[in-house]
Amino acid sequence: MSATEDRKLSGKEVAQHNTRESCWIIVHGKVYDVTEFLDDHPGGSKIILKYAGKDATQEYDPIHPPDAITTNLSPEKHLGPVEPDTVEKVEVVITDEEKARLERAEHKPTLDEILNLHDFEFIAKQVMPEKAWAYYSSAADDEITLRENHAAYHRIWFRPRVLRDVTRVDLSSTILGHKTSMPIYITATALGKLGHPDGELNLTRAAANYNVIQMIPTLASCSFDEIVDNAKPDQVQFLQLYVNKDREITKRIVQHAEKRGIKGLFITVDAPQLGRREKDMRMKFEADDPSEVAKAGGKGVDRSQGAARAISSFIDPGLNWSDLSWFKSITKMPLILKGVQCWEDALEAYDQGLAGVVLSNHGGRQLDFARSGIEVLVECVTKLKEKRGLTFPNDKFALLVDGGVRRATDVIKAVALGATAVGIGRPFLYAFSAYGVEGVNKALEILRDEFEMNMRLIGAPTIKDIVPEMVDASNLSSHIVSVPEDNLYHTSYEVMHHATLKEIKSKL
Ligand SMILES: Cc1cc2nc3c(=O)[nH]c(=O)nc-3n(C[C@H](O)[C@H](O)[C@H](O)COP(=O)(O)O)c2cc1C
Repeated sequence: MSATEDRKLSGKEVAQHNTRESCWIIVHGKVYDVTEFLDDHPGGSKIILKYAGKDATQEYDPIHPPDAITTNLSPEKHLGPVEPDTVEKVEVVITDEEKARLERAEHKPTLDEILNLHDFEFIAKQVMPEKAWAYYSSAADDEITLRENHAAYHRIWFRPRVLRDVTRVDLSSTILGHKTSMPIYITATALGKLGHPDGELNLTRAAANYNVIQMIPTLASCSFDEIVDNAKPDQVQFLQLYVNKDREITKRIVQHAEKRGIKGLFITVDAPQLGRREKDMRMKFEADDPSEVAKAGGKGVDRSQGAARAISSFIDPGLNWSDLSWFKSITKMPLILKGVQCWEDALEAYDQGLAGVVLSNHGGRQLDFARSGIEVLVECVTKLKEKRGLTFPNDKFALLVDGGVRRATDVIKAVALGATAVGIGRPFLYAFSAYGVEGVNKALEILRDEFEMNMRLIGAPTIKDIVPEMVDASNLSSHIVSVPEDNLYHTSYEVMHHATLKEIKSKL
């Protein structure tokens, strides 16, 4: 059988190839012979075998870009289209939990009732699929860094100025020389379709509406080209890069991105191995038959450990400083390291002629007890001034920060301390998981409104007027671990309230 034959295959014929020895699957109406690919599948063979001889589209879509199968399988394995009417429908079992979740989703509050970014998280937790919540919300080990990322901003206080004319405030700024309506960008987060069928396109569209920059992840669920094609003509996008052990693949990705107009390459350097995100691991993204795991892995990767592990086995742990000259030789895009966590590495990046660094701990998902980006910012500003005479924000070498930014006051604090801009991740994921693109629009609107008001209140009519003297960060590096089960806290203070679901009439 070959792709050149015009005849459509019947569902019955496909159904006969339902074993490890001969395994065909249907994805988007096309039949593929994946027998030889079974052991190479980054997510393991078991999940493919579950759909052997059947339509795997529903399982495939949230995790893979549409072109993943065509680029990974040689053309002779593309067996051609299937007669749609002859394909047996894959029975989708809706569990009681799923029914309850769908009912909760119907009762989610309208966007008018969402007042801040925390509201999105609170609602998303209740209405999004459990697997997606586990992957998005999880962080490494005891999730101490996850909490610290936001808590660190609570240790910075304002020193506002008064009697300044703030009739008009201008939030606009630039990142790597590109205009942005405010000093934030949407950072790279993988697997957008777990939370919403349009995946990362929700972010692309909202970024266009609000004139902010989107960083496209290597592991997006939509294809890279789809995301770029959905951008408006002059919309600026960056690319986050996980470096593949096979450098030819990396070269192809980088050069294709440059050709498509990507304006900055953010090389992730904090993930030589993916952190243990136990909430995600407990979901067992794949089945847990150990013999199958061994068979499927065969390359030292345990495929049973959540979405993160399932998709990331290609990342090169051997990546090092000497690789940077190779990147410079294959692209003219500005190079930025994403995941720098101390001034020594920021200085090295500067000395190697890079365009900047993102001071980030990957949203607390990698090394637990890594310090927050905002804390690292302060030491970088001090040391890069001391060692190289640099001042910040700096047009030639950008210090960007991400992790735990949930309020415009957080952004203002980072800018005051020398950041060019901050990246925001989870809040946008939660916004689109619950409300699609309109959710992301609303999240950006909330940030813009908070920003405008707070600039007035600190006495800064433009971004340049936000200066270090406007914050007191003297306590920033006191590492106080907040314990969520702290009874004193919970009994002494009333918890913050959130937008709530409408009343559910039926008993669930
Ligand atoms: C669900 C999720 C997926 C992520 N995927 C990636 C990724 O593929 N590559 C990467 O460099 N960083 C990734 N990150 C890290 C983010 O780029 C960013 O550093 C982090 O989300 C910032 O913290 P915040 O979520 O508190 O805003 C991911 C974060 C989350 C929450």
